[in-house]
Amino acid sequence: MKMFDIAVVGGAGHIGLPFSVYLQNKGNNVLVIDPNKKYVSLAEKGNPPFVEKSFKPNLENALLKGLKFTDKIENIKTKEYIIVTIGSSSNIKDIELFNNLMDEVVDIAKKNSKIILRSTLSLETFITLKKNKAIKSKNLRIAYCPERIAEGLAFEELKKIPQIIGSAEKDSRIFSKFFELNGFEILNTDIDTAIFVKLFSNAYRYASFSLINEFDNIATSNNIDFNTVLRLATHKYDRLKDIPLPGFVGGPCLIKDTKTFIKSYEKDNILLKNFSKTNIRYLEKILSQCKSKFSGKKIIQLGLTFKPGSDDLRTSISLDLRKKLIKMGYEVFSVDPYLDQSEVDFKLFTYAEVEDKTDNILISTNHKNFKNLDFKNKNVIFAGKN
Ligand SMILES: NC(=O)c1ccc[n+]([C@@H]2O[C@H](COP(=O)([O-])OP(=O)(O)OC[C@H]3O[C@@H](n4cnc5c(N)ncnc54)[C@H](O)[C@@H]3O)[C@@H](O)[C@H]2O)c1
Repeated sequence: MKMFDIAVVGGAGHIGLPFSVYLQNKGNNVLVIDPNKKYVSLAEKGNPPFVEKSFKPNLENALLKGLKFTDKIENIKTKEYIIVTIGSSSNIKDIELFNNLMDEVVDIAKKNSKIILRSTLSLETFITLKKNKAIKSKNLRIAYCPERIAEGLAFEELKKIPQIIGSAEKDSRIFSKFFELNGFEILNTDIDTAIFVKLFSNAYRYASFSLINEFDNIATSNNIDFNTVLRLATHKYDRLKDIPLPGFVGGPCLIKDTKTFIKSYEKDNILLKNFSKTNIRYLEKILSQCKSKFSGKKIIQLGLTFKPGSDDLRTSISLDLRKKLIKMGYEVFSVDPYLDQSEVDFKLFTYAEVEDKTDNILISTNHKNFKNLDFKNKNVIFAGKN
């Protein structure tokens, strides 16, 4: 006997698939609903479509236990629980896509279904959703239960991170039971607070990574080496021991969630909207280092994805960096062991293939594989810790 009958809309994506696999392995009956043919056909055969620690054994186990896939949204009409994990952002187009999908979900869902919104949302999106009269007439229960794992660590973090449940008070028991039975510690609150918590968490991280870049920029424009500053300031000085290191701030969440936060709580914003300028300046600093430190017009670029150990190129500043270098007339030989050639429209190289082309090395995404490379006699720029 399965615990809950669940559809996960957007269930083949970076958040949806690990969560679907997790839920199936916990003893639920999960149907993934997603039009992404590439991801679905890989996942159905037990092949992880993207990098996640411990993904393959978990996925294979879920398939053995009956995890199923479809691209037909109509299938939600038989499901007791509908979980939505599609992408979201503060762009009008994405908001419209989300709103349209939710209209479809509400329209098709059977009476008394429980809808769990797991994508990162703004208050505005929720207000729009609540205007749908069918929610009341069909007695649909809705909760906002944001995903908080870090991409790549889903199978470690899903077990550990408490689940924030934003819902109307009368529904909180229903959703608490769902998550408790699935092994989560739960934290109940109202929807507005849950939305603020999720957006705040990412906007705060974005701000703290950007703040250190701001100091790096200021040090650089005053001809002070910020690496030396950090070494001196933090040595045996515990009050600064947890500060982040300068580096690119990219990826699918931090930038877009900060934009959503700014848009959602616009009138109270003083600082956050200026950090995008800081990060542009930080990128310009790396570009001017390339100009001053490298001789010739060839560069070996190590790492393209938005963070080390990931194959995700979404909002990757290293990828932006490549484009800007090419515009500046450089020939860029990009090396990224986490990427498949099919994911980019330019040639990828192995380091061995290009190491003799130039001495100019730009480490833009610090994958651990690069630690074993020999950079003796090379001219190396390190773009920072991303
Ligand atoms: N990636 C992260 O690290 C992370 C972490 C926490 C929260 N989130 C949030 O989770 C949400 C999803 O992010 P993601 O990284 O998994 O995005 P993703 O693009 O990897 O996945 C979204 C999936 O939704 C599918 N989809 C799109 N339209 C659909 C439709 N109409 N019907 C069914 N499926 C549809 C896509 O095919 C895709 O597989 C976002 O709101 C994001 O902010 C992401």
